[in-house]
Amino acid sequence: MMSASLEVLRADITTLAVDAIVNAANSSLLGGGGVDGAIHRAAGAELLDFCRTLGGCETGEAKLSPGYHLPARYVIHTVGPIWQGGNSGEPEQLAACYKNALELAAQHDIRSLAFPSISTGVYHFPADAAARIAIDTVLTTLAQQPAIERVLFCCFSEADRARYAALLTVKDVNKPENPQ
Ligand code: APR
Repeated sequence: MMSASLEVLRADITTLAVDAIVNAANSSLLGGGGVDGAIHRAAGAELLDFCRTLGGCETGEAKLSPGYHLPARYVIHTVGPIWQGGNSGEPEQLAACYKNALELAAQHDIRSLAFPSISTGVYHFPADAAARIAIDTVLTTLAQQPAIERVLFCCFSEADRARYAALLTVKDVNKPENPQ
C-alpha cells in the first residue's frame, strides 16, 4: 500500500522547500546548463566544490550533496540517458534515475523530494515517454519505500505540467484522504 502523495506543479525547482531536489546532471557532476545550471547558481559555489569530491556519476546512478543556499536540504544528482532513438537502453536508464534517486532518498531519511523532467531537455528524450517512465517508476519504487511521504513532479513548462497531470489522473494513485 503506497502512502506517499504525488503532486504535479509548474515551478522553478530551485525554489522548492522540500527535503531534496533532484538534479538532471551530466556524468562529470561539474555543472552545465538547464536545471543543472539553475541548481548550481542557486546553491552557490560550495555545491561545485562538493561535487568535485564525488568523482562523477554513471548514467542512471544517483549521488547526494548538501543543498547549501537552496531551500532544499539536499540535492540528489542523477544522470539521465542521452536519447539515441530508444534502442540503446535509454528507457531502462531513465527508469534507473528515478528508482535510484528514491532509494538514495530513503537511505538518508529524505521524506519529500522533487523531480525535474530528467533527460527531456538537452538530452532530447521524448517528453511523453519520459513522463510515463517517471510516473510508473516512481509508483513502483514508492511501494517499496513507505518512508517517503511526498514526491513532486516539478515541471518547467505548462505543456509538461499538463502532460504529467493527465497521466497521474488516469493512474491508480492512492490520493491521501481529504482531511474532513
Ligand atoms: N526548474 C525545473 N525544471 C527545469 C529548470 C528549473 N529551474 N530548468 C530547466 N528545467 C527543465 C527543462 O525544461 C527540462 O524539462 O528540466 C528538464 C530537463 O532539461 P535539462 O536541464 O536540459 O536536462 P537534461 O535534458 O537531463 O540534460 C542534461 O544538460 O544542463 C545540462 O549539465 C546538464 O549535461 C547535462 C544535460
